Amino acid sequence: MAKKKSAYVVVFKVALWYSFILGGFAAYTNWLPQIRGDAPEAAEAIDVNNITPDELKVMGESIIFGSNDPLGVLAKGEGPIGKGQCPLCHRFFMEQKADRCPNLLALPKPDVDDPLLKLTEEARSHERVKESRYEEFKELHKDGEKNSGIVPHAETGGQYLIESEYCPNCFVVMGFGLKGTNDTVSPMPIINKPPILLADTEIVAVVSYLQTRDGDMNLWTAKDSWEEYWGRELVSEAGEEEEVAPVAAGPPVALGSETPEQIVQKMTCFACHKIPGISIATTGMIGPLLIEGTNSPNRIKSAEYKKAVKDGKAHATTARGYVIESIMDPGAFIVPGFADDMLKDFKHKFTVSGLDVLVDHLMAQTVETAIADGLDRLPNEKEGSILPPSGEAKLDTGKPLTNGAG
Ligand code: HEC
Ligand code: HEC
Repeated sequence: MAKKKSAYVVVFKVALWYSFILGGFAAYTNWLPQIRGDAPEAAEAIDVNNITPDELKVMGESIIFGSNDPLGVLAKGEGPIGKGQCPLCHRFFMEQKADRCPNLLALPKPDVDDPLLKLTEEARSHERVKESRYEEFKELHKDGEKNSGIVPHAETGGQYLIESEYCPNCFVVMGFGLKGTNDTVSPMPIINKPPILLADTEIVAVVSYLQTRDGDMNLWTAKDSWEEYWGRELVSEAGEEEEVAPVAAGPPVALGSETPEQIVQKMTCFACHKIPGISIATTGMIGPLLIEGTNSPNRIKSAEYKKAVKDGKAHATTARGYVIESIMDPGAFIVPGFADDMLKDFKHKFTVSGLDVLVDHLMAQTVETAIADGLDRLPNEKEGSILPPSGEAKLDTGKPLTNGAG
């Protein structure tokens, strides 16, 4: 009897899921994920004294893209995302879809007014340290930036690129800061801290790639810049392997045999979302705090969602259906206050049972579980802070900066 019921529930869920997401059987064959082995990547044991700049560049490329043929990976319709996670948010190639995330910072952006954004990242880095806004950030963080303890002190372009990895808040590009913070808080994670946790030598490799990706090795200063910035010698870190967060290589698939924490890590949700109950997901600032026990029932009732339904974009009729739709078809409805920045290929990356495991977890999260984990909504979330009025705001947005560029 019980067995019969659960079989029915499964069939029903699967049917519901297909009708939400796939819009018919034809899509099913396209969707079937390819299950791959995804061995965790250990830190590269880089012997910095016995390596050429060219080799560092190649290493940086594989840390960023998980491949030394990122264009080949793109051509197969997959996202080239390595353990550094940078392409989640940064566009490196014209071939990369424009709808990925907030900015094109690693690529010249010819279609904007800002003259700095028209430059390559390497050329731009030299201009950044001369901007008067950089001086304002030095003043703002003169006692040390809150999350890294760093006082902004880059003097050259190379040092600026190094600093950007260790302290994204040390200079926030205008227009790309977290909404509601007057461009004083960056949504970029600190790259040498968990969950991305690159070693110093890996950061030097990444900066080597940024400096020389256009093929001019004369632009390379990464190792010297690191040493000037920190005032000490860069040493090889072969011993750090165990500390590095194992981030799966290649396009992984979420399985029902995994825990919500493993799925969130594999699928990189943590880079953009805070999620109660997931230890690695405490800093994401691109998307909403995922408390779907609280959010999803309100979302489907909202006027904005009803409009998306009327326009034929959104289709969920239940709270759970809303969460599934948000993951499988993120463009169906854009949460007010946010941009259409979520990755679009999760529909190829979840087995049905893997999706169930994650959605169960998200649906169990509420205002209460978030408070218990010390998490709060972002300033741009329409519903506002979840902390009681007397509570200290978790996000210190610092002293407002003037908005002038020069
Ligand atoms: C979760 C999204 C996200 C990820 C992941 C991310 N970044 Fe960023 N990054 C941003 C945003 C947003 C900005 C602009 C705000 C700022 O200045 O901090 C930025 C700024 C930068 C800048 C300064 C750009 C400039 O023109 O001044 C550099 C350099 C940079 N990122 C490099 C990287 C590298 C290298 C990685 C991977 C190791 C990475 N980022 C990962 C979101 C991200
Ligand atoms: C590159 C950044 C990024 C990544 C990675 C990402 N998301 Fe999102 N997500 C967003 C943004 C931005 C929004 C809000 C805009 C929208 O509604 O699409 C969002 C919205 C959502 C919503 C709707 C939330 C609500 O309260 O209405 C859910 C659910 C969600 N994401 C789940 C996930 C899950 C699960 C993963 C990992 C499998 C994930 N996201 C990965 C950026 C991201």
